Amino acid sequence: MSEFRITRTLPEDAMAAALRADVRNGLTSDPKTLPPKWFYDARGSELFEQITELPEYYPTRAEREILAGRAAEIAAALPARTLVELGSGSSEKTRHLIDALPRLHTYIPVDVSDTALEQAGRALVAERPGLSVHALIADFTAALTLPHSPGPRLLAFLGGTIGNLLPGERAEFLASVRALLSPGDALLLGTDLVKAEEVLVRAYDDAAGVTAAFNKNVLSVVNRELGADFEPDAFDHVALWDATNEWIEMRLRSRTTQTVKVPALDLAVHFAAGEELRTEVSAKFREDGVSAELAAAGLGLERWWTDGEERFALSLSVAR
Ligand code: SAH
Ligand code: TRP
Repeated sequence: MSEFRITRTLPEDAMAAALRADVRNGLTSDPKTLPPKWFYDARGSELFEQITELPEYYPTRAEREILAGRAAEIAAALPARTLVELGSGSSEKTRHLIDALPRLHTYIPVDVSDTALEQAGRALVAERPGLSVHALIADFTAALTLPHSPGPRLLAFLGGTIGNLLPGERAEFLASVRALLSPGDALLLGTDLVKAEEVLVRAYDDAAGVTAAFNKNVLSVVNRELGADFEPDAFDHVALWDATNEWIEMRLRSRTTQTVKVPALDLAVHFAAGEELRTEVSAKFREDGVSAELAAAGLGLERWWTDGEERFALSLSVAR
């Protein structure tokens, strides 16, 4: 029998406290920042799904191509009984893996977006009789405890979401992933690759303005949760390539001099005309770098697959 359970590992008041701390720290630092996990309320998750269908946003299609073509090889390398997925969102591409793993017993999607987990989980149990789905509403950058489930475990982290962490955060994150695995378990990691600047910038600044709306949605989240009076259209979406760090940087640029009030924090935030708030980085990778970062965390890169145009890579690394 299939079953669906959803567990909130983050009490709502802890989430609210984390948002307040992040917004206070971010808006009082220089330059101003806001951390990416707050993009994904119900509207943000919906906008992200629209991004994945944009002609300019190639990562989803490239990663799906690899998963569709290599699912059987992945399953042969690691015949998992439990599949854990961090930042699972719609779990749409994951279906290729689920269908290829003959011994799969439990799927554990982990996300901060309760709406995405509900939708994805209910659809999956309806389509896959026999699969147990145990969704966790949790922050994958905080200490995670997974429910008991049979090994071996495959932990998937897709979408290039690892690129949204800064290098120091990535090292900490990979060490915590390693700690969730037993020897012989594996990490399946999706990484977007370094490529021509125009292609990268277009993927994060599409003609239809969906990415701009997604970026500005974080301001609506702060308005709703903390009573702030951000006027999203008083900011312009900016995406630029940082060639030194090899990451795309997303910013919101204030069109005018303005002061935004955040009543829940008793804070007034001044923006100069043209001042930029950094909302997200999306790092792009090369095989050497991925291999070195994994090795530093005790994970040995064993397989490296790319799509036909070498835009995106999936790697399989095994916990030693
Ligand atoms: N894996 C999906 C979604 C990628 S978008 C895909 O490849 O299409 C990134 C996902 O990670 C979103 O669903 C978002 O809600 C989730 N997310 C972002 N930061 C998170 C965090 N700190 N903890 C848990 N989930 C997070
Ligand atoms: N993980 C996705 C990426 O880095 C998230 C993403 C896509 C994103 N487009 C965005 C995040 C725009 C912020 C703004 O590709």
